Amino acid sequence: MSLKRVGILTGGGDCSGLNAVIRAVTRSAIITHEAEVIGIKNGFEGLIFDRHRKLTVADTKILPLGGTILGTSNKGNPFEYRQFDKDGNLTTQDYSQKSIENFNRLNLDCLFVVGGDGTLQIGYKFFEMGMPVIGIPKTIDNDLVGTDYTFGYQTAVQVACDALDRLHTTGESHDRVMILEVMGREAGWIALEAGISGAAHVTLIPEIPYDLEKVLEKIQLRKEGGSPFSVIVVAEGAKEIGKQAITSEAASTRLQGVAQLGGVGNFIAKQLSDRIDLEVRCTVLGHIQRGGTPLSFDRVLGTRLGTHAVEAAVEGKFGTMVALKGQEIVLVELESLAGIVRKVPENSQLIRTAESIGICLGR
Ligand code: F6P
Repeated sequence: MSLKRVGILTGGGDCSGLNAVIRAVTRSAIITHEAEVIGIKNGFEGLIFDRHRKLTVADTKILPLGGTILGTSNKGNPFEYRQFDKDGNLTTQDYSQKSIENFNRLNLDCLFVVGGDGTLQIGYKFFEMGMPVIGIPKTIDNDLVGTDYTFGYQTAVQVACDALDRLHTTGESHDRVMILEVMGREAGWIALEAGISGAAHVTLIPEIPYDLEKVLEKIQLRKEGGSPFSVIVVAEGAKEIGKQAITSEAASTRLQGVAQLGGVGNFIAKQLSDRIDLEVRCTVLGHIQRGGTPLSFDRVLGTRLGTHAVEAAVEGKFGTMVALKGQEIVLVELESLAGIVRKVPENSQLIRTAESIGICLGR
């Protein structure tokens, strides 16, 4: 089909490389297909409240830019939109029909939905309701099924690796145990690859509940071997054997009741401090992993995914997501994602690699 007008939105948490996708979709739709491009602002909120802007080639000087020029939101699910009524009570509204009306009014041939599992699931629901949707996978967590890598992930790992390099030198200077808490939700990809690339001595991931005694043993052995400092990377979703991951209630009132991961780094710092005669310090890397300039890998991946998404739209392959499989960009059905989290498999080569070079995974 020939494309006349396409829309694009970025939803969920931001990551490096989103602008590379926006740029690729915009340039390829305009330059190759002479189509118009409409950027929907702030994720699905822009569809609910009809907020959008036209994108032109002049708007695409954004390749090295972190974040998303369209804005994003992880609070804007049109099927369960949370907002306060005039009495200050939190209410949940279904704005899906309103969103479809706004989509139709924009006269779009396709909506490119760039996001993680939550955003892509919303995209799939709209596809089922007749909207021509194509998904583009993003997340620093790399936890989406159907694709080998999501863009944003490599940049986040590099940030964590750089942080570990820095913690090494200060940790070694002071003979301290340095803990770095990284993101990743229920998946340990960032921690594991950062641990390998940043030469951590201990790496704790959600997939392998940790035994504190093993961590203590590793630190003790290093001390006895003449290295009284250790560097630990811990995924925010990591948990001790028999315990739950550490969460706190989201501070935002619109996210009332939503549990946010975080705090395990300081928890382990306390656990270790109570048992060893070494100073323990924790650094929580947080959103630094999501911001800033994307690595070239994420720029290229984002550009490839964006251009293939436009090709998929031309071929009318709606209800799919563009994905990296090996060296190729392929299409997978949005339906097949079904909210599955891609965790580090038990038999992962990465786990074997880490352990065979002496990294303690807390077991
Ligand atoms: O999914 C990406 C991610 O950065 C997770 O790693 C993290 O748990 C979460 O988003 C943080 O979300 P927020 O920006 O809402 O605090």
